[in-house]
Amino acid sequence: MNMNMTNILHKILIVDDEKAICDTFSRLLVYSGYTCHMAANGREALNLLGEHDFSLVLSDINMPLMSGIELLRNVVDKHPELAVIMISGIDDRDVAINCLELGAYGYIIKPVQMNELVINVANALHRRELEIINKRYNQQLKELVAARTEDLNLAREETIMTLGKAAEFRDNETAQHTIRMSHYCRLLAHQYGLSESQCELIRLASPLHDIGKIGISDTILLKPGKLTEEEFTIIQQHPEIGYRILADAKSDSLRLGASIAYTHHEKFDGTGYPRKMQGTSIPIEGRIAAICDVFDALTTNRVYKAAIEVDKAIEIMVEGRGKHFDPELLDIFLNNMDAVIQIRKECADPENK
Ligand SMILES: [Fe+2]
Ligand SMILES: [Fe+2]
Repeated sequence: MNMNMTNILHKILIVDDEKAICDTFSRLLVYSGYTCHMAANGREALNLLGEHDFSLVLSDINMPLMSGIELLRNVVDKHPELAVIMISGIDDRDVAINCLELGAYGYIIKPVQMNELVINVANALHRRELEIINKRYNQQLKELVAARTEDLNLAREETIMTLGKAAEFRDNETAQHTIRMSHYCRLLAHQYGLSESQCELIRLASPLHDIGKIGISDTILLKPGKLTEEEFTIIQQHPEIGYRILADAKSDSLRLGASIAYTHHEKFDGTGYPRKMQGTSIPIEGRIAAICDVFDALTTNRVYKAAIEVDKAIEIMVEGRGKHFDPELLDIFLNNMDAVIQIRKECADPENK
């Protein structure tokens, strides 16, 4: 039998209460190029496993203090990258199956032939190497998928946000409006008790609420002063245009965006537009967006009007309780004013910071 140089890299721990067996195995394996350590029982073995970097454990089953089976359980649990071969004086099928099920790489019956031992050790080490490579490969794959998913999520978020901003820019709104509005929406959805994933989706989709303004002519959209009745009717088409832009989308975020675009001007008492929906027949995302959109419009500077104080805005919104706004949602929004004001401060327009 030739000494294999790569074997030197492998340390083997031989565990047997019979010193003579340990010595025989050790001599044989050292001759094959391995480095060997010996332990007289499971407990001693565990101590050595903590001190050295072993590749393989050869363990007897019946030993004092800690049996080979118990040692096997410990090794599988604490040193999962170790190969374990069990060696027993009893040819018991059930014990052998039990060992393999627990994670042993092999089960050899005493007396052990010289070749049999060396072949079993080499095979176990080979299998161990393949399993380590496989595990690392899977780990790398997992990390790669996670990184790609993060990239995709970021791209999706940026795309939605940019689309939302594009629509708001046409209306002389600031870019920060979409950002504040989406944070208010998330906060309100969360406080209302929607699931974490729904809240996140609402945050992601709400910047699209005014996407339909892309389809409204500049002469009306940017007209200074009061709109005529006819012009106002045209402006009122933006929810439906927004819905039509997004309605065929397959992704959850864009579909939710379609719903928000369509329903953010509906009013709780049925006097809103475009469909005069009423009460809770207006989807929750639309009722949430209505509150957050109006609050932000009231409390920030626009080209055509100055911001009003938060207290005054609250007063105006309370007047709309049950009329414009879902009363339950409005109460929740107003009860969380500290968080709302925090968002308002953190996402303020540059000139207001
Ligand atoms: Fe709107
Ligand atoms: Fe808006």
